[in-house]
Amino acid sequence: MTKLALLGGITPAQFLRDYWHKKPLLIRQAIPAFQAPLSRQALFDLAQRDDVESRLITHRSDGWDMEHGPLAKLPALKQKAWTLLVQGVNLHDDAADALLRQFRFIPDARLDDLMISFATDGGGVGPHFDSYDVFLLQAHGQRRWRISAQEDLTLEEGVPLKILSHFEAEQEFVLEPGDMLYLPPQYAHDGVAVGECMTYSIGFRAPAHQELGEAFLEYMLDSIDLPGRFADPELKATTKPAELPVDMVKRLRDELNKIRFTDDDITIFLGEYLSEPKLSVTFDAPAEISFARFFQEARKRGLRLHRKTQMLYRGTHVFINGESFEVGRADKAILARLADERKLAKADFSTASEDLLEAFHQWHESGWLELN
Ligand code: SIN
Ligand code: CO
Repeated sequence: MTKLALLGGITPAQFLRDYWHKKPLLIRQAIPAFQAPLSRQALFDLAQRDDVESRLITHRSDGWDMEHGPLAKLPALKQKAWTLLVQGVNLHDDAADALLRQFRFIPDARLDDLMISFATDGGGVGPHFDSYDVFLLQAHGQRRWRISAQEDLTLEEGVPLKILSHFEAEQEFVLEPGDMLYLPPQYAHDGVAVGECMTYSIGFRAPAHQELGEAFLEYMLDSIDLPGRFADPELKATTKPAELPVDMVKRLRDELNKIRFTDDDITIFLGEYLSEPKLSVTFDAPAEISFARFFQEARKRGLRLHRKTQMLYRGTHVFINGESFEVGRADKAILARLADERKLAKADFSTASEDLLEAFHQWHESGWLELN
């Protein structure tokens, strides 16, 4: 693998071996001469939308305030120490999406979103830790980061956000546009705007086992197949009518123990679960075009996944936006390319089966797939 300026001149393999989940990494000029692709106003506009997750955090002398979006009105720009956080900006902007996808040396199943924060001088979200790895890319202006490997992660009580009770900084850096700080999960940090600034957080997802387990059992509901019904032709008369008969417990235990999860069940569940768009995500259907017309255009222009589309694969299983299906080898190669590259040139799908072409047409109708 090649060395990346984005990682300070080391390869993704070296980064993952030496830093990922282990220790922070400060990368000066990870993106040289970086210019924030989204203006302050574009961010404020996103914060007004009800399909965009946003929060406004204000730090006052007597504590913290948090308001959830949509945020029709923001404090004045000359007011100090407020922060606007906008989640999932990559879903709404191609440049933000392209930036997030520079981190695809990490599997899509682990990538979450690009969050953008805007802060006025002195603004920040307070000393805290996150449960996920994060890359903090300075996009505009300066931010002073103070960080600590401290083990005491006690949080303040009665505040609307996660604030560490005893934060003791060990290192401090001022980040300029294009500089980036990687922090492993649970690493204490506090970023304070030096003048007005914008910071981009490249965030990851790591499913909580409990949540995953609950979703898995729900998923399995549809595939459990236990034919037959309890019968006891040798039933004996009882003098303890309220007692649960031991024979009944044993026999039904044996039936319930027939519930088995295969590796395929787990793979299909994970693919559907991890490719499911977030609740707030909606796709816009394009103007309807016929199957014939769609293919005429696709052969000319090629196809690409919409930036909101999440596509994964494993073996012969392919997953797109929470749906799964099994494909033959030839189609699998085409779909794996589409998922990895997020686009197809016309030569890439010249051998596609009729079923696959129909699926493409349908995905186009759903807004999942676009003509290049
Ligand atoms: C911010 O950008 O203000 C907060 C990001 C973080 O600390 O995780
Ligand atoms: Co954080």
